[in-house]
Amino acid sequence: MSMQEKLDTLSKLRETVEAGGGQKRIDKQHSSGKKTSRERINDLFDPGSFKEVDVFANTEVDYRKAKNPGEGVTCGYGTINGRRVYVASQDFTVVGGSLGRVHAAKICKVLDMAMKVGAPVIAICDSGGARIQEGVDALDGYGQIFYRNTIASGVIPQISVIMGPCAGGAVYSPALTDFVMMVSGTSQMFITGPLVIKAVTGEDVSMEALGGAATHNQISGVAHFMSNNEEECIAQIKSLLSYLPLNNLDEPPAYDPVEPAIAKETLVDIVPVDPNKGYDVRDVINAIVDANSFLEVHQYYATNGVVGFARVNGQSVGIIANQPKVLAGCLDINVSDKIARHIRFCDCFNIPIITFMDVPGYLPGVQQEYGGIIRHGAKLLYAYSEATVPKITIITRKAYGGAYLAMCTSALRADTVYAWPTAEIAVMGPEGAVNVINRKEIAAAENPVEMRKKLVQEYRDRFANPYIAAARGYVQDVIHPQETREKIIDALSDLSTKRASRPRKKHGNIPC
Ligand code: HXC
Repeated sequence: MSMQEKLDTLSKLRETVEAGGGQKRIDKQHSSGKKTSRERINDLFDPGSFKEVDVFANTEVDYRKAKNPGEGVTCGYGTINGRRVYVASQDFTVVGGSLGRVHAAKICKVLDMAMKVGAPVIAICDSGGARIQEGVDALDGYGQIFYRNTIASGVIPQISVIMGPCAGGAVYSPALTDFVMMVSGTSQMFITGPLVIKAVTGEDVSMEALGGAATHNQISGVAHFMSNNEEECIAQIKSLLSYLPLNNLDEPPAYDPVEPAIAKETLVDIVPVDPNKGYDVRDVINAIVDANSFLEVHQYYATNGVVGFARVNGQSVGIIANQPKVLAGCLDINVSDKIARHIRFCDCFNIPIITFMDVPGYLPGVQQEYGGIIRHGAKLLYAYSEATVPKITIITRKAYGGAYLAMCTSALRADTVYAWPTAEIAVMGPEGAVNVINRKEIAAAENPVEMRKKLVQEYRDRFANPYIAAARGYVQDVIHPQETREKIIDALSDLSTKRASRPRKKHGNIPC
């Protein structure tokens, strides 16, 4: 073969790989509202930065007989806003993006490469699952990926982007990663599909209702982000990455400081002095963090709590807050899971945690007890206690009982705790407390209703304020709400050299 013939062969082979499953299947992909694996990569990475790895990987070693171009997955690395990121993007046009031995080996290789250099990995899932023809080799391939996802956890950020089907055991790779993103209408995740469910339990359910973006964002909590189309999803990935370091030994990127979008003067009006009135804690957050920097995570799940990322004076922070407008901001099973996971992510990746506390307690109820609110609620205590990143807590209003402790107090090693003058820090709320400690007095009173009212007021005046906690040193200072941003900026600066260590151990045993 002449040199020219060799070069022609190379071009032809490359073109074949890049054509994926062919125009007909590409057209089908487009007509169902989905892009191809390579189009998604183009949208995600900085122009010209993507380098593909294992371009010619194939189960067939004789290149003249190679089938299944790219083996149903496009892998490589490049830069996103100038920062190195690795990707495995499944190609549904090739055998339905199904995963066989070589497909899995390609994904494993990018995971290994990302671990070696310390860079985030994005997996774009669009697959019919285990390649049935490859049997146990396909199953082993999944096992190899699950193992790597687990070992990489806490070392490099891992983001799973579901842009098509993701069924059966395949769902466990996304579940092992840090964030799952889904696109409405075109992505589904489930262990067993509608047909199997119908056969086993008799339930009728559509693919979308069973495992669509809304289901996993609102009901199951499996997914953290939802978008209306792939463009929006790609923008979400880029936004999320902007808060994260490349790995656990790196610092999050710094941005230019921006003043908050909501004037700090409004803070005194956002939180009602009346403890029975709700408000949207996101207004408090947006009056404190840099304008347009708040990115909510798990926005539609367990909405009695709010978690996310933001920047304060250009620095990445993790935000955790009770949401008084939903269930009065009580802690329940789902919100405990949501908050604990966010704390642990931030702690893995050196992102300081700012907690806004306004919590009446753990949610009472038989279903909560039966569901294990004890073990789920314990995750909060565990995650905050374990975290060694700077922890700054602002008590805006209610801070009662175990929930007060669980939202990061000095006992759990918060570094800085500030309270607003509206804070109420006590074992119980006034109504509950007088029922216990003044029960006989109320029963014996001539006018029990009036007596109860009087005792509630006395309790409120005496206990429901921040000054007892401040007198004991549990609260560092009681501050004007308008000072909060400046106090947080100072605290972040003061804590930038924080050192904290824990006893050497293999790993802890978080309640679950
Ligand atoms: C081999 C597969 C495949 C698979 C799809 N294809 N899934 N080939 N193994 N798992 C092929 C199809 O034969 C077809 O080939 C092409 O991909 C496109 O698939 P279509 O069915 O035409 O596409 P569509 O109508 O959009 O339906 C998509 C789908 C369906 C809903 C995903 O393909 C499907 O139900 N696939 C099987 C899903 C499944 O049960 N997977 C196994 C899960 S168990 P042609 O040549 O006709 O274009 C599992 C275990 C993992 O994954 C365990 C890990 C621990």
